Amino acid sequence: MKLVAFASGRGSNFEAICKAVKAKKLRAEILALVCNVKNAPVLKIAKRYGVRAIVVPNDGLSRSQHEELVLKELLPLKPDWIVLAGYMRLLTPEFLRAFRDESRGIFRVINIHPSLLPSFPGKDGYAQAWEHGVCVTGATVHLVGSGVDDGPILDQSVLEVLPKDTVASLTKRGLTMEHKLYINVLSQMSKKEFKVRGRRVEWEAKR
Ligand code: GRF
Repeated sequence: MKLVAFASGRGSNFEAICKAVKAKKLRAEILALVCNVKNAPVLKIAKRYGVRAIVVPNDGLSRSQHEELVLKELLPLKPDWIVLAGYMRLLTPEFLRAFRDESRGIFRVINIHPSLLPSFPGKDGYAQAWEHGVCVTGATVHLVGSGVDDGPILDQSVLEVLPKDTVASLTKRGLTMEHKLYINVLSQMSKKEFKVRGRRVEWEAKR
């Protein structure tokens, strides 16, 4: 399974994926990291793991101009999956179409989101959940659709909000949980196929 990861900042999910590949816990090849922020901490992680970094800053560019530059670098690599891991930009339908899997009616793009979708889409999922006062929250790995955080769900993990929690402590535990969740889903994708019926994802053995 050939992956290209997209990230904009800290890169803890990206690092977890690199670690799992290195430790052979995940059978995948990371072809490159795409990053839209010069000097983002995630770039140091890519360097440490010997992953090629494709840095395309978006400053001063329209969304489509930026995506065009990214696609020019990305398409020759022929990735099986685009793995979004803290990529702080929405992808346009035109970009997604470049990764269309017509037979399954999906885009070959996945994302991790810090809440139990469909609750708390958008930014700062843990802060939204904490402020709302929920007793449980979590994280979701999902296929990327053409709306915001709205594609079919591949897997979720649940996280209890403790009375003593702050946004910071909840986020810390949440991130650790995310790393396991993302690796589990990617590992499942490397071993199994899935179909999508309506919004439901059905896993089956690989042919
Ligand atoms: C994570 O909480 C992820 O769910 C969200 O953005 C954050 C990225 O964190 N999409 P990191 O850069 O992987 O540390």
